[in-house]
Amino acid sequence: MSSLKKDSKIGTRKRIAVIAGDGIGQEVIPQAVKVIKASGADVEFADFDWGADRYLRDGTTVPPDGFARLSRDFDAILVGAFGDPRVKTNIHAKEILLGMRFKMDLYANVRPVRLLDAALCPLKGVEPKDVDFIVIRENTEGVYTDAGGVFKQGTPDEIATQEDINTRKGVERIILYAFEFCRSHAKIDGSPRGKVLMCDKSNAMTHAGSLWQRVFKEVAAEYPQITPQHMYVDALCLQMVRDPRQFDVIVTNNMFGDIITDLAAGLQGGLGMAASGNIHPGKTSMFEPVHGSAPPIAGKNVANPFGAILTAAMMLGHLGFTKETSKIDAAVLEALRQKKTTEDIGGSLGTREAGDWVAEQVSATLSS
Ligand code: NAD
Ligand code: IPM
Ligand code: MN
Repeated sequence: MSSLKKDSKIGTRKRIAVIAGDGIGQEVIPQAVKVIKASGADVEFADFDWGADRYLRDGTTVPPDGFARLSRDFDAILVGAFGDPRVKTNIHAKEILLGMRFKMDLYANVRPVRLLDAALCPLKGVEPKDVDFIVIRENTEGVYTDAGGVFKQGTPDEIATQEDINTRKGVERIILYAFEFCRSHAKIDGSPRGKVLMCDKSNAMTHAGSLWQRVFKEVAAEYPQITPQHMYVDALCLQMVRDPRQFDVIVTNNMFGDIITDLAAGLQGGLGMAASGNIHPGKTSMFEPVHGSAPPIAGKNVANPFGAILTAAMMLGHLGFTKETSKIDAAVLEALRQKKTTEDIGGSLGTREAGDWVAEQVSATLSS
């Protein structure tokens, strides 16, 4: 097995590990895979059965060599979602999803926020050109490390602590990533990006806030052509719904990044439209839609597959398949224009049928 990835890097073929996971992950990921196949990208897939069913069957969340295998044998990982009402502790989601982020050191959670069709935005008078920003979320630290503990549990004197871990290395590399991203990525309309906004809560969380503030100023000084900005996270939430036009690149910690990207998904038409990548440059990275397993709608063929399909396009772009990425993005745009979508965004198609439509559109563009 160890030679597989090496071989794939010599040729152009890329190997993709697919972990559909739980709930609607099982429905949207097959649509994304179908669309990738239709794009003609030179890739091959290997399915992994990690998720709630496997955990309930044999107690395995991640097999002993799981993460090592992913890093060694694959160029990228495509993930659905984890979360199942039968697993009350959510232990499998923690070990698989957060496990990949932490143990594979995928420190940059890149979440593009793009409005593809004005009709999808709940805000008045907002058009696609007005919503085109990126949230760069720190993905390996913060309160997500689960550091802390309990004392006198179950008694009236119970104490629970949840530590917010911020390291100089972690803060510096994510802020640097944001500035580099800003420098090297254009907006959808082709104009250059020029602003990086750091979002924190340094008026209340002064210790972590001080570290983020100092590092942000130091890194910003290295990028004189980029305008550094700052907002407290509460104010940012207000501004995001008042005037999303003002945002370009936002960098923030793990927890704030989680929260503001659900809010930002609302600007794009809901969680069914939001894509993300969990990236460590040069290492095997993981791509997943922002949404969860959505248990109430799972198994009904109603989940919107576009977030997963746009995530697949993002993954292909990361792997160097730029033409294929553009074709998939264009096919999703066309689906929106022709209302060939699921009901959550105004169409009347099922998950599979919306996926089929995009796949056919991608194939048609290839042969035309
Ligand atoms: P969720 O994202 O699953 O659902 C939130 C809302 O958005 C629901 O109303 C749902 O129906 C809707 N929705 C989500 N995706 C949709 C889609 N593709 N099409 C149409 N509607 C969609 O979040 P939740 O309800 O808070 O969590 C459910 C489970 O998923 C929990 O176990 C949670 O921990 C887990 N979760 C996992 C991930 C992940 O694996 N990356 C992300 C978020 C939540
Ligand atoms: C996300 C999810 C996860 C997170 C959960 C499932 C742990 O909400 O990817 O946005 O909080 O990071
Ligand atoms: Mn989330």
